[in-house]
Amino acid sequence: MLPFCYQNDQLHLEHVAIKKMAATVETPFYCYSQSAIESAYNEYSNNLKTLNSMICYAVKANSNQAIIKTLAGIGAGADVVSEGELRRALQAGVPPSKIVFSGVAKSEREMSYALSVGIFQFNVESENELERLNQTALNLNKVARIAFRINPDVDANTHAKISTGKSENKFGIPISKAVSIYNKAAKMRGIEVKGVDVHIGSQLTTLAPFRETFKRIKLLVNELLEQGIAIEVIDIGGGLGVNYENQDNFEISIKRYCEMVNQEFCNLNAKIILEPGRSLVANSGLLVSQVVYKKQGEHSTFLIIDAAMNDLLRPSMYDAHHDLLSVTKKSTKEHYDIVGPICETGDTFAKNRQMESMEEGELLAIANVGAYGAVMSSNYNTRLSIPEVLVHQSQFEVIKPRRDYEALLSLDNLASWQQTTSELELVK
Ligand code: LLP
Repeated sequence: MLPFCYQNDQLHLEHVAIKKMAATVETPFYCYSQSAIESAYNEYSNNLKTLNSMICYAVKANSNQAIIKTLAGIGAGADVVSEGELRRALQAGVPPSKIVFSGVAKSEREMSYALSVGIFQFNVESENELERLNQTALNLNKVARIAFRINPDVDANTHAKISTGKSENKFGIPISKAVSIYNKAAKMRGIEVKGVDVHIGSQLTTLAPFRETFKRIKLLVNELLEQGIAIEVIDIGGGLGVNYENQDNFEISIKRYCEMVNQEFCNLNAKIILEPGRSLVANSGLLVSQVVYKKQGEHSTFLIIDAAMNDLLRPSMYDAHHDLLSVTKKSTKEHYDIVGPICETGDTFAKNRQMESMEEGELLAIANVGAYGAVMSSNYNTRLSIPEVLVHQSQFEVIKPRRDYEALLSLDNLASWQQTTSELELVK
């Protein structure tokens, strides 16, 4: 169930009117429903009760510490892909024993930091990375627990930019080479081989690619056992799609996915790790914006809003669909091109979209933006990063404030040869 609905013709997130938030926070801003995040997590954990499992939230989907804390507070671990994400997860209260480190290009520095805090597992993606991790661990007198990320050569049937499980993608170790690399790793003193890891892509809308992947992984686990390598952990990644377009026949749900995971893995004596990102947080979030101009073009009416592609990149980057809602319920509808203020035609949220009639100054909400929204934002066009707000029942609080222009401009320095002598004196 989505966390937003109309009460007395006003859009609410949980019990807070969007209009009320906009009056204090000012548009554009993100807001997230805490209970939507909690209920998505509980749906995973309730449906996996009989399995030895660990749900590691893929922090990249929304790395605000208040969001990580919400999930950590009800038992989630974290899947991180950088030292920055690892630091966020730790600071938000995720115990190191529940953290897995994914990513194709972990640096020695990142490895050292992760080893020093004692994370649960590194998901290793290449032979070169294995060698570097072994060396780094030996230097620190530590042992790195690892899983190899396997590339199963399965088509996830999703957008090409977020498909990761085909042999032509940069991710993982080809399944045909897996046995030999496991044998190599088993002999390394800085490495303890624990598991197998796989993640074939994001926004999957059918179960079949998952099932095919799991079958291939189980065959590999058996083959490894025959070679004397026992797999204790199987990390099955994330990837569950969200029903952005409200399709009636949308196949994926957390419940159905978990049923399949139970079926596929109940007979295996291994801990199953999940790395969901989008499916935990996407539906929790709205991006609230205001119509700046309603501009009549030759072919269409443009609603120019105060949010832009730098705030929410998904429509311009993946042609992603997000529902657009008038914050005050309307009885009439019109067709619009909904665009932002940035100087690119790609700064478009929707083309020829039928939605409720809107006027200048009115509020509009972009739906299901809790995942891969704020985290992918930038300051392009020297626009300020927009605030994030957490909603809990009737309360709301800013969890990332809007910084001012002074703070943004002070991030740059002039090179020394561009400064006058008196300016240089000041710096000293
Ligand atoms: N594990 C690994 C290793 C991943 O690379 C990802 C996502 C996940 C887990 C979480 O996948 P999820 O459950 O969220 O599908 N920016 C894109 C999505 C990029 C996903 C990257 N990896 C978007 O806006 O659609």
